[in-house]
Amino acid sequence: MVRINDHGVNVAVLGATGQVGMVMRRVLAERDFPVRDLRFLASSHSAGTVLPWNGHDVVVEDVATADLDGIDIAIFSAGGGTSKVWAPRFADAGAYVVDNSSQWRMHDDVPLVVSEVNPDDLDVIPRRIVANPNCTTMACMPVLKPLSDAFGLKRLIVSSYQAVSGAGRAGALQLMNEASAALDQGADKLVFDGSAIDFPEPTKVVRTIAFNVVPLIGSIVDDGSQETDEEQKLRNESRKILHLPNLAASCTCVRVGVFTAHGMSVNAEFDRDVTVEQAREVLGKAPGVQFDDIPTPQLAAGRDPSFVGRIRQDQAVDGHRGLALFIANDNLRKGAALNAVELAQIIADKHFARQL
Ligand SMILES: NC(=O)c1ccc[n+]([C@@H]2O[C@H](COP(=O)([O-])OP(=O)(O)OC[C@H]3O[C@@H](n4cnc5c(N)ncnc54)[C@H](OP(=O)(O)O)[C@@H]3O)[C@@H](O)[C@H]2O)c1
Repeated sequence: MVRINDHGVNVAVLGATGQVGMVMRRVLAERDFPVRDLRFLASSHSAGTVLPWNGHDVVVEDVATADLDGIDIAIFSAGGGTSKVWAPRFADAGAYVVDNSSQWRMHDDVPLVVSEVNPDDLDVIPRRIVANPNCTTMACMPVLKPLSDAFGLKRLIVSSYQAVSGAGRAGALQLMNEASAALDQGADKLVFDGSAIDFPEPTKVVRTIAFNVVPLIGSIVDDGSQETDEEQKLRNESRKILHLPNLAASCTCVRVGVFTAHGMSVNAEFDRDVTVEQAREVLGKAPGVQFDDIPTPQLAAGRDPSFVGRIRQDQAVDGHRGLALFIANDNLRKGAALNAVELAQIIADKHFARQL
């Protein structure tokens, strides 16, 4: 534990050594989060590592042996299994937990919140646990919420183009190793004889991901639908965040050979007519949304907004009730760390105002 300021909230980051944890540390510093005491936690694997933060050195603690007393807000990015065990223990010790995993998102007594979209859902936090949405859902919400308010969102079809960093450090390493092995084999093989390229065995993504797209993320759900859990998250989480329990939604989640930032192709159908001009007017005022003519993951990487562009009338929908558009967003920033820190800030303002 390191004392950073005399005033502020006592903050713990569980999973501080991971990809999301690293961005979380950066975002906490960038946004001048009102930290009093700061603690970084992970597994025994990286306990003892020293991580710099805003001119201080913070020693990583093993969560299994850590004293949980005195933490006001704990931000978790250490996987669902870890959250299942540790979120209730941190909450029992008095902390508010902001969790990045899928473990608590669909519990009725756990708010699932995007900071610009449904912050009022943080007014009541019955279990002291708050959930951060999945990164694809997160990217879409700041765009879809204002359109839904204006035109009545009825049906969604989303195809995702998801970066390997969404599969943790192991996903990023797989792309790096496969890409460098393939490039070593020369242009003749790469361009003219693709089937002869010798790739290492996949280690995280289920098929070779370098120079490839893989239409399976997560696992097939055992309910006869043949959907993956990743695909169902987008439907279920969108319904909960938008307060639209009957929203029709279908999603195909695809991993692509990109390191960071996801792309989403969205076809949205509305109750009322909407023109491209009207949609642009609504989105022009939406917090967390920025237009770009060609919104690519590369544009979004390292930046905060959901970039939206290629807005068209959906020609497959009768009249003017459908829009087609493309969204790009950094899965490690707004898709995980940034929104978590924003939720922590709302909790600090609502519940710890006197300490700030
Ligand atoms: N990557 C994304 O785009 C994304 C987006 C939204 C949400 N998330 C969620 O964020 C979480 C982390 O993702 P990531 O990409 O940062 O993964 P990662 O790079 O693999 O990092 C995992 C982190 O969790 C820690 N950890 C693992 N098992 C633990 C245990 N038993 N006890 C304590 N700490 C443990 C690791 O600590 P050690 O260093 O000690 O191993 C490490 O700090 C996951 O829940 C994921 O679903 C990720």
